[in-house]
Amino acid sequence: MRTVAVGLLGCGTVGASVLRLLEARRDIIEDIGVNLEVAGVLVRDPHRERDVPQGTRVTSDPSFLMECGLVIEAMGGVDRPLDLLRPYLRSGRPVVTANKAMLAERWDELRQYALDGDLYYEASVMAGTPVIGPMSTVLRASRFESLEAVVNGTCNYILTRMEGGDAYEDALAEAQRLGYAEDPPTLDVGGWDSAHKLAVLARFCADGDFALSDISVRGIDTVTPHDIEEARRAGERVKLVASLRRDGDGWAASVAPTRLPADHPLCTAGASRNAMVYRGEECGELIFAGGGAGGTITASAMVGDVLDNLIGFPGHVPLH
Ligand code: NAP
Ligand code: HSE
Repeated sequence: MRTVAVGLLGCGTVGASVLRLLEARRDIIEDIGVNLEVAGVLVRDPHRERDVPQGTRVTSDPSFLMECGLVIEAMGGVDRPLDLLRPYLRSGRPVVTANKAMLAERWDELRQYALDGDLYYEASVMAGTPVIGPMSTVLRASRFESLEAVVNGTCNYILTRMEGGDAYEDALAEAQRLGYAEDPPTLDVGGWDSAHKLAVLARFCADGDFALSDISVRGIDTVTPHDIEEARRAGERVKLVASLRRDGDGWAASVAPTRLPADHPLCTAGASRNAMVYRGEECGELIFAGGGAGGTITASAMVGDVLDNLIGFPGHVPLH
């Protein structure tokens, strides 16, 4: 048995679920030959009562980070997590993260760590529905053509509730209560969270340097009940669609509310679920669908990444 000290940044919707799942999968971790010890859990308010395994060190002091052999980042934000991770990453140690905003916006700095196999980020896109795994491995054999995806659970939840007659504000408040939304939720409804995820995906199939600024972004904040009713009458539904396709020698990338036939594969993903239609020349059309937001489903991908690291698999390596 070797002992691996793990540090966790954040203990909110995702972080607390990760802690619980690590505890529940202790048997599998021990089968790999690892005694996993949680060295510390970083939060803003260490005095708040939390549902964490007894004895967990919950603290606002990040000094435990440099003791760790693996760090799991589930705090969100862009510069704050990167400032904390920078010295640790520079020492060549691995990070598991669900933070698509940081990945999308600080790629200049993070790309080399990803190329080195030190970043694991399956949960950053479509939460527990694995798309980064296949896109960073087997799908590379096929020439990428295009993808369209519903990658934001909050927006999908809001649009689905609006179809049922609920007000936009009520549906958003409920998505926040359920732990789906970003902080602030304008990242979701403004289309930015989808754009962050599209940038992450594009680096596996289009260009390893793909920039967030190359995506045209519109959110659902201007979608009205009238738009939804008009679509329904035409046998269509309104979805926030992220799309990427070849465009001459470059790429066309966008996030926008889009009317789709009600039987389109992107429409079969209800409420907070996500879906992606992926096309490659040799692999043909593939459809991925599943849970896209929420603590437990996101933790399933993050703990999967932890297991990959403990087994010895590298992180998710983008195009060179
Ligand atoms: P959350 O519920 O707001 O939790 C954030 C956690 O980070 C809290 O425990 C908070 O501490 C801590 N934190 C925030 N800022 C901090 C700071 N400056 N110093 C120390 N601790 C800090 O957020 P979440 O929903 O779990 O999301 C976390 C990450 O996962 C984000 O990157 C998000 O995009 C990503 N993600 C979320 C989901 C989802 O469905 N929620 C799915 C996939 C990916 P306190 O508890 O003391 O406030
Ligand atoms: N706020 C995000 C969403 C969380 O609603 O999809 C999952 O990445």
